[in-house]
Amino acid sequence: MITEALLYAATLPLTGKPHRKFIRYSVNLWSRAGRCAEDWADHEEKSRNAIRAAAAGLRQKRTAVVLGSGLLRDVPIEELARDFDAVVLIDLVHLASVRLWLAAKRYRNVRLIERDLSGYDDLAAGQELEPLGFLRSVPYLDFVVSANLLSQIGRGVKRRHETEAGRMPEDAVERLIAAHLTGLSGLPCQHCLVTDIAYAVVDRNGKTHEEADLLHGVAPPSAKASWTWPVAPLGEESGDYRIEHKVLAAW
Ligand SMILES: C[S@@+](CC[C@H](N)C(=O)[O-])C[C@H]1O[C@@H](n2cnc3c(N)ncnc32)[C@H](O)[C@@H]1O
Repeated sequence: MITEALLYAATLPLTGKPHRKFIRYSVNLWSRAGRCAEDWADHEEKSRNAIRAAAAGLRQKRTAVVLGSGLLRDVPIEELARDFDAVVLIDLVHLASVRLWLAAKRYRNVRLIERDLSGYDDLAAGQELEPLGFLRSVPYLDFVVSANLLSQIGRGVKRRHETEAGRMPEDAVERLIAAHLTGLSGLPCQHCLVTDIAYAVVDRNGKTHEEADLLHGVAPPSAKASWTWPVAPLGEESGDYRIEHKVLAAW
């Protein structure tokens, strides 16, 4: 708890005011990722491998953009920084620990941007929904990665919708998820989508008690790879059940 509080306090002054409310979610992610490191290792390596495979055939490696870069656990940042002229990491929040690690690595070509990638504000304002439209102004863009972000957009939208005033359409979550996928598929360069698409609550005997579609009925592109991510192994949320997410990678 003390480390979490320190990380929160160190990240606060480094984060723009509109994004400070999201710091606690990133700290929670950091905390859980540390506790579950062993159980998450396979998922993280498979995510990194998908991104490596998607970038492998590129003729030019000028600018790469990573959407939902977070803790950089499932992103092969060392290879991206080595192979691309510029790497842009975009997330709601970049924790102080991530900033410190990047500074220690002395990457000169890695840039951090804080941005809400969901499109929530545009949808709430009744404006055109194009959450990835800003990528058109990124010069020499050769590669875009959506790194285990998409299902989080859905969760974040539901959370904001419940706590903030203002009207959102009934189908807001579906529309924002679909807009992310449309934005990715419309890019004029190579892209790689890694996302969890479903979750299951499984008991000690392997019996599934609950399942849900994390993409809310929006069809993902066909997978080039898929695997299971033990998001909450036995003991993390309960001693009686574990939570597993189904993940796919497409490029
Ligand atoms: C499951 S984590 C992905 C982890 C990350 N790729 C890594 O390697 O550690 C989801 C990430 O998406 C970010 N995120 C969630 N909603 C977002 C939004 N609307 N805009 C930008 N980033 C968002 C979170 O802050 C978090 O870092």
